[in-house]
Amino acid sequence: MLGFVGAGNMAAAIARGLGEPIHATDNGSGRAKALVAELGGEVMPTNADLFRRSDTIFLGHRPDQLAAIAEGIDAKGKLVISMMGPTTIAQLQDAYPGATVVRTMPNTPVEVRRGVVAVAEGGEPAVDLLSRLGTVVVLPERQMDLATATAGVMPALIAVLAEAAIDAAVCHGLDVENAKDMFLETMAGTAELLIKRDGDTLAVRREVGTPGESTVRGVAALERNNVRTAFMDAFHDVLTRLSRPYLGGSVVVD
Ligand SMILES: NC(=O)c1ccc[n+]([C@@H]2O[C@H](COP(=O)([O-])OP(=O)(O)OC[C@H]3O[C@@H](n4cnc5c(N)ncnc54)[C@H](OP(=O)(O)O)[C@@H]3O)[C@@H](O)[C@H]2O)c1
Repeated sequence: MLGFVGAGNMAAAIARGLGEPIHATDNGSGRAKALVAELGGEVMPTNADLFRRSDTIFLGHRPDQLAAIAEGIDAKGKLVISMMGPTTIAQLQDAYPGATVVRTMPNTPVEVRRGVVAVAEGGEPAVDLLSRLGTVVVLPERQMDLATATAGVMPALIAVLAEAAIDAAVCHGLDVENAKDMFLETMAGTAELLIKRDGDTLAVRREVGTPGESTVRGVAALERNNVRTAFMDAFHDVLTRLSRPYLGGSVVVD
């Protein structure tokens, strides 16, 4: 049985994506109860009970809670999968001696099984299970912070882009529902097309625009407004936050 320490946003997205009954705990909010009502399973009275009664345990709490939650827990022989991006394999092994620990960085589209789960090398025992959530990418541990920037936080950045485009359409007179339908489907369809074209963004761009006409003028307006610089800055700020001392320090990005 799958166990979830914490039933917050990321844990719930993974549990929904896996779509099977779970054992879960929380810190008193009632979110574990709500998630169990949705998926089946049982709320566990304590984290020790959760570990005793589950084979695979997802850590869905915040990184700074690791030591306090692991205190006194026997995880020998269990598969412990952390979704706490910055927490290193060494820190997980210290907290749960005798367990097989896996460091991951998932993103919320796992809920609809179109997520990305970055797995630090050594986490191969969890890959089959995690593949049910979308695309699994195995990375050297030193690159896990880059997975946070590229995949973990990205649904929020993409949601801002969607919001901006929908607002622009509404500002020019389109009704909100049509603006949402058209933009969100265009976003999903463009992602599919880019995947089909092996990520050739320039080819997809050139196929849309006639020289001198509206598309290339729209692209030029984005460039004038520094869309690339905005993404560079966003990555810089995410990585800077991750490299600050945090539970003894994250893995340094080289
Ligand atoms: N959100 C994302 O998109 C995302 C993406 C990748 C990775 N992550 C990582 O996933 C982790 C959780 O993030 P989140 O956004 O899901 O946070 P969240 O919504 O705040 O969820 C945290 C959960 O941990 C529970 N918790 C706290 N102390 C606990 C304890 N002693 N025993 C059991 N459960 C306890 C909380 O309980 P209550 O409900 O009672 O407060 C809550 O359910 C973080 O490490 C984050 O870095 C998040």
